[in-house]
Amino acid sequence: MANTVVEEALSKIPRVRLAHLPTPLESMENLSQRLGGPSLIVKRDDCTGVALGGNKARQAEFYFGQAVAAGADTAITTGAFQSNHARMTCAYARKLGMACEIQLEHRVAGKGNSYLNSGNVLLDRLLGARIHEFSDGEDEKGADENLARIAAAVAADGGKPFVIPLGADHPPVGALGYVEAADELLNQATAMDINIDIVVLSSGSASTHAGMLVGLRALGNKARVLGVCVRRDQAAQAARVLARSNATAELAGLPVTITEEDVLVTDSYLGSGYGQLTPEAREAMTLAAECEGLILDPVYTAKAMAGLIGAVREGSIDSHETAVFLHTGGTPALFAYDELLTGS
Ligand SMILES: Cc1ncc(COP(=O)(O)O)c(C=O)c1O
Repeated sequence: MANTVVEEALSKIPRVRLAHLPTPLESMENLSQRLGGPSLIVKRDDCTGVALGGNKARQAEFYFGQAVAAGADTAITTGAFQSNHARMTCAYARKLGMACEIQLEHRVAGKGNSYLNSGNVLLDRLLGARIHEFSDGEDEKGADENLARIAAAVAADGGKPFVIPLGADHPPVGALGYVEAADELLNQATAMDINIDIVVLSSGSASTHAGMLVGLRALGNKARVLGVCVRRDQAAQAARVLARSNATAELAGLPVTITEEDVLVTDSYLGSGYGQLTPEAREAMTLAAECEGLILDPVYTAKAMAGLIGAVREGSIDSHETAVFLHTGGTPALFAYDELLTGS
């Protein structure tokens, strides 16, 4: 079969291949029936394989493509304390023979010992990361600036640092992983004779959202992509997704323009903010587990699933439509949320 425009474009960009791809595409028949609505399907990106999986594996492939090309020996990045991205960065670094230094930001108020030491932090330590702390988790620019200081210290010690920043003013290298995921998803849908009407995903730094949107449109697919906000309100997130999408298309060399009409986001499931559990997220975790044996995380995928359930209940996804839920992983954070041990 001839290469798609996406395969063609991405073949020119450095990457490493460590993720287990393609990830499964599976029906969620029991949940569809329980909600009495559309056909629901899950794209299992929690099964990308490396260090307990998740969406960040696809993104890391392109960042580490650059790191290897640059001859780096130390990977450096930043994220919230329970960052899946930081954990995945450590795992890729280790597999590729590099050291890793991660900056963990105090972004979620009111959390105790488990949040600061278990879940992803436990895995970071197991992976041998050197951990730095950053006090203001809302200061995205300041966090990135501090990465430059950490990198300077590594270089002063004779190391060759490679920095993965998170701010929106840097090229969306990680989003390329989701441009490819869109291609993978459409291939699977075709093989299974499925026509996808909508993809629902968690929208944070917006790399996943932007990559999926650009990939689908580049392939001529018009499916809606609904991003459920996990960090910002919908006005701020929509602006970020729009800008990151067009930057992604440019970086990939794909002749696609994303417009405001393409960008669908909702902040109705954000609750009091990043990393804070909501009743809707709890219900989503329970329904996914009881109906499908599917485990969601409290920070990202439970809110995205709450968004999908809400859209079905309010009728913004029709009963004759097919919706794909992108399971982006994040499961280690379950063990950092003591409040899940109780009914409160
Ligand atoms: C498990 C999980 N899902 C979704 C997201 C959101 O992805 P993005 O940052 O690309 O918007 C993240 C980001 O940290 C994540 O860790």
